[in-house]
Amino acid sequence: MLANAGAKGSAIPLAALLISTYLLFLRFYTNRHVWLINNPLATPPPVELVVASLKSENTSWVHTHLPDWFRSVYVVDDPTARHTVPRNKGREAMVYLTHIIDAYDTLAQTTVFVHAARFAWHNDDPDYDALPALRRLDPARVRAEGYVNLRCVLLLGCPVEIRPREDAASAEVRANGTHPDGRPLRANEVYEQAFRELMPGVEVPERVGVSCCSQFAVSREAVKAHPREEYVRWREWLLATPLADDLSGRVFEYMWHIIFGKDAVYCPSPAECYCKVYGLCGLKCTGMQCEGRYDFPKYSTLPNGWPRVGWSGEARPFSGPL
Ligand SMILES: *[C@@H]1O[C@H](CO)[C@@H](O)[C@H](O)[C@H]1NC(C)=O
Ligand SMILES: *[C@@H]1O[C@H](CO)[C@@H](O)[C@H](O)[C@H]1NC(C)=O
Repeated sequence: MLANAGAKGSAIPLAALLISTYLLFLRFYTNRHVWLINNPLATPPPVELVVASLKSENTSWVHTHLPDWFRSVYVVDDPTARHTVPRNKGREAMVYLTHIIDAYDTLAQTTVFVHAARFAWHNDDPDYDALPALRRLDPARVRAEGYVNLRCVLLLGCPVEIRPREDAASAEVRANGTHPDGRPLRANEVYEQAFRELMPGVEVPERVGVSCCSQFAVSREAVKAHPREEYVRWREWLLATPLADDLSGRVFEYMWHIIFGKDAVYCPSPAECYCKVYGLCGLKCTGMQCEGRYDFPKYSTLPNGWPRVGWSGEARPFSGPL
């Protein structure tokens, strides 16, 4: 009698235990796509960080410092990673396209696409630190704009990086992969042909410019302006192209803003960009950069120990969290 009642009484806790075990399994042992599709209570996140990384890169800063964000860290050279790509080809473009394809029906309202390194020469910050910008980023602004570049400074990629028709190399040189004098092909020399293949029927722009380095934020609506099949086709192109990774990756680097609805030359003034995207208003600016925000580093590889160790091994003041 007593044992019987006990068995009935434990049916509900047992079911609850099984369900929560199942949900915990989904959340921590599967990727974000499986979790969002299989958990009836989950809703697409408001903001998601998509990180393109190599196995050798340390991405723990993302989890440590952005615990409230939905984070999807792709590891391109680890087929067993929770998020990975069909083939490590085309640099970060393969990650960004793969994420859009797999997450198309569960996209965040705002998706932020970044590289794995927290400190990198191209990060638009006085310490080349990606974190302050991510923390300041205004998702409402991204939704209003559709696309924003994380880099406001215009020192590289703007006002014009590529003149597709003028820069195009001959078909023979493109097929060969090098110039007769041995110089390697450059992205601007293959851009026109790539654009024709990626955007059939769209007129090739005269000039293309966007602040460098393929880190940006987009709204769900801007992504969904193209059907999923289009992203699949673009990834097929990336998988099939004979172009070297630095070239195919750079073709996409100068294509994302166009894909997400901006003019081929997209170089808003730094003053406006820092203010609207990051709430850093009233800075002293020229047409290219704002005081105290970003200057080219001495070398593209930051010193060991950065940001606490400077270029000559000297101690540097750094007040951010590490
Ligand atoms: C990764 O970086 C963090 C600091 O952000 C550090 O504490 C940790 O030891 C690093 N992990 C490895 C494997 O280097
Ligand atoms: C093709 O590339 C080779 C080196 O890979 C070079 O020696 C040759 O001159 C190139 N030919 C043309 C037409 O560019």
